[in-house]
Amino acid sequence: MNCTKCKTKAVIGLPRHNAAFCKLCFNGFVHEQVARAVKSERMFGPNDRILVAVSGGKDSLTLWSILLTLGYRADALYVDLGIPNYSEKSHEKVERFADKLAQSHETKLIVHTVQEQAGAGIRELAMLIRRPTCSTCGTIKRYQFNRAAVEQHYDVMATGHNLDDEAARLLGNVLHWQTEYLDKQGPSLPASVEGFAKKVKPLYRLSEREIAAYAVLNRIDYIVEECPMAKGSKMLLYKEVLNRLETESPGTKQRFYCGFLERGIATEPRTGTMQEHDQAMLQPCTTCGQPTSAEVCSYCKMMARAKAKVHST
Ligand code: AMP
Ligand code: FES
Ligand code: ZN
Repeated sequence: MNCTKCKTKAVIGLPRHNAAFCKLCFNGFVHEQVARAVKSERMFGPNDRILVAVSGGKDSLTLWSILLTLGYRADALYVDLGIPNYSEKSHEKVERFADKLAQSHETKLIVHTVQEQAGAGIRELAMLIRRPTCSTCGTIKRYQFNRAAVEQHYDVMATGHNLDDEAARLLGNVLHWQTEYLDKQGPSLPASVEGFAKKVKPLYRLSEREIAAYAVLNRIDYIVEECPMAKGSKMLLYKEVLNRLETESPGTKQRFYCGFLERGIATEPRTGTMQEHDQAMLQPCTTCGQPTSAEVCSYCKMMARAKAKVHST
């Protein structure tokens, strides 16, 4: 198999693009996909300060590295969730990668530790408030991402969600007709004037397999294990089903997700701010000041419930 572009020996075949690439041309292809995503969804410009949420996994570390390679101003945020064994390992990967990047780029890593801020890791917090660990984790991560971006004046918050993540989430939402989530499923969620950071997903045009290949070829040392809490999750099932379809019919995931975007159901990037009715409903949380549609935000409510539980036992 030879590279479609330069005809030297190929290292990877991409059936959905009917192409194969050598390492150099594959890197060029990956960078081009990110650049296209950033441009077509108006994610950010060369002067914007970007905060990349890094988990230690292949997607987010790859994203951080590519944004710096493309010349963007990108720092990173790692949230240490206090998951025994898994958090220590992922934290170490992130720190090492940050040191490596800092040798050739101007960039820094910010770390937020849930244990320090909340007095317990997410598993204990979830048990205290009797909610599934993953949804507790989601609330905490969203809160930490937004707080760090807004307080430290980043223009945009970027996550490593890829094509597989977005197609699987879309499939889940469509299967259950959760239409209220569809307008938030675009790769570029605008900021609100009320203190919500703009959120973007520059890897949405690349599949999990392509990103894993990029990470391996470019010696990005990431944590291979998935979070232990994710085992048996519906998302993993949807990904499996989509992979099966992709094998039979290459390009299925892209047609599904990009077809959804082309139909304009997700929030339009060009609106610049959140829709007016969303904004009108937001007010500062009376406890922490972050924007919320209730009096107290869901993070502060959760923390209050956990504290009350500790005091009552
Ligand atoms: P996941 O929901 O685990 O697939 O993660 C999706 C994205 O959220 C990742 O690509 C990261 O950008 C971000 N992320 C997940 N976990 C963390 C974490 N502990 N700290 C910072 N960012 C994270
Ligand atoms: Fe949140 Fe696993 S990363 S529960
Ligand atoms: Zn709050």
